[in-house]
Amino acid sequence: MTHRLAVLISGAGTNLQAILDHIAAGDLPATVSLVLSNRPAANGVAVARDAGVPVAVIDHRDHPDRETFDRAMVERIDAHGADTVVLAGFMRILSAPFVAHYRGRLINIHPSLLPRYPGLDTHARALAAGDAEHGCSLHFVTEQLDGGPLIARAAVPVRENDSVETLSKRVQQQEHRLYPHILRWRAEGRLQLTDQGVELDGEPLPAEGLRLDATP
Ligand code: GRF
Repeated sequence: MTHRLAVLISGAGTNLQAILDHIAAGDLPATVSLVLSNRPAANGVAVARDAGVPVAVIDHRDHPDRETFDRAMVERIDAHGADTVVLAGFMRILSAPFVAHYRGRLINIHPSLLPRYPGLDTHARALAAGDAEHGCSLHFVTEQLDGGPLIARAAVPVRENDSVETLSKRVQQQEHRLYPHILRWRAEGRLQLTDQGVELDGEPLPAEGLRLDATP
């Protein structure tokens, strides 16, 4: 059976688009079983509709608390089936029961070279610190915010005249390359989270994940 991806979004949906493009091109042997947005107006909802994949909006503002909202999401995700739950710009903190339910199946992309800059405003923080490089990280999600076991990272140079806009665009190009790449490993059954950590083809990955910079 084809590997099923449930993709959770809140915004533009450019990572979702990259995933859909790779599936359409035959490079990612998976199907998107559901796109779930907590924001009705998110552009990613239109991206999903254009691609003809199932899409649901569950507005967090319609729920009294985080756990009720998360339970509604679990119900919907599981109704469609998900071998991997893909956080692609999903801007809500997830409750412990949600994270536990999808342990080993929940992956996030974060726009920094973790463990540097967990949280928000990563591009501005990298610029303010005068970093020579910045990038993105993919990790399994655990209870620790942006702190789960790392799978892979990709770096980009920070240029002298960079703004948040130019730097974030350069990082996003890497996100759009890296996410489908790692999801392919999941779809092929090669990438797992075990009690020992992240394993690719049964071999443990280094704690900092694989470094998969683009070849210039
Ligand atoms: C990405 O930069 C991702 O790293 C962050 O949110 C952004 C989502 O962008 N978590 P998009 O919605 O995929 O365009």
